[in-house]
Amino acid sequence: MYSFIKKFKYSYKSMFVAIFILSIFLSGIANGQIPDKFKNLKVLPKNISKGELIGTMKGFTRALGVRCIFCHVGTNERDLSTFEFASDEKTSKEKARIMMSMVNSINKDHLSKLSEYSDHIMKVNCMTCHHGQNEPKLLEDILMRVIEKKGIDSGIERYKKLKEKYYGGFTYDFQVRTLANLTDMLIKSKRFDAAVTISKLNVEMYPNSIFSLYSMGEALEAKGNIKEAIEAYANAMKFAPNNPQIKKKIEMLQNKK
Ligand code: HEC
Ligand code: HEC
Repeated sequence: MYSFIKKFKYSYKSMFVAIFILSIFLSGIANGQIPDKFKNLKVLPKNISKGELIGTMKGFTRALGVRCIFCHVGTNERDLSTFEFASDEKTSKEKARIMMSMVNSINKDHLSKLSEYSDHIMKVNCMTCHHGQNEPKLLEDILMRVIEKKGIDSGIERYKKLKEKYYGGFTYDFQVRTLANLTDMLIKSKRFDAAVTISKLNVEMYPNSIFSLYSMGEALEAKGNIKEAIEAYANAMKFAPNNPQIKKKIEMLQNKK
């Protein structure tokens, strides 16, 4: 039974790969389903070539991790001939226009000024912020919202799900600092139990990091578990012997005890 499930999973995966390859293949054909003349361009240059416009649009889909239908009206998302690309019905299209103007302004009005001081100038584009998601949120902000609304268990569940899906990619940061930031945010909002739980999860994943151990010390200290907090700080100090800040913390807590 198990091997059957495994095999099924395999064929499932290869099906996705096949669809992906097919979609690249079809995207060449799809150009034929897109009109040659554009009727409703307000930000892009009116005389933009079809190739350049399609390139720009494909860039949007990659940067936001969406398909054309996210911004454009169409009755069948796989058949571009059913689309009315000139229509402004979807608010996401209007939002995208605001974003395009913003990006133009960042590059033209602000970053260009830096070129007076350096010969190399970077440009901002949709991917710079969006990293493959339509709402460019930090992982700690997503988790904080979940914990506020649904509690710590749901928060941890969401973390594990996102990790399974996105680990190794660049959409979310699964390094030690994310859960340390989240621990900080939880302490500030006086959710001390949740802060301790999250900081312990971080130590579980990054047991040899001064950041995870120090952050756990802070959570435990905030909760009032002074003895455990001292232990965590002492462990953190193993990775930064005689660090004056940690030393002071430990001394202060020992006086409190
Ligand atoms: C994130 C939103 C977004 C996505 C995703 C997107 N577009 Fe667009 N598209 C726009 C915006 C905004 C405009 C209008 C630009 C302007 O006003 O200069 C536009 C304009 C167009 C136009 C010109 C319509 C006209 O006649 O004025 C075509 C054609 C088009 N898109 C095709 C596509 C295709 C094909 C895809 C998928 C590969 C796609 N778009 C994905 C936002 C999007
Ligand atoms: C400087 C960072 C930054 C850049 C660059 C950027 N965006 Fe955004 N974008 C954001 C933020 C932040 C939001 C969320 C705003 C909100 O909803 O509060 C957002 C939201 C959006 C949304 C609305 C998403 C939704 O689900 O409602 C669209 C569409 C969008 N961006 C498209 C684009 C496109 C297209 C580009 C490139 C032309 C772009 N963005 C470049 C930061 C950026």
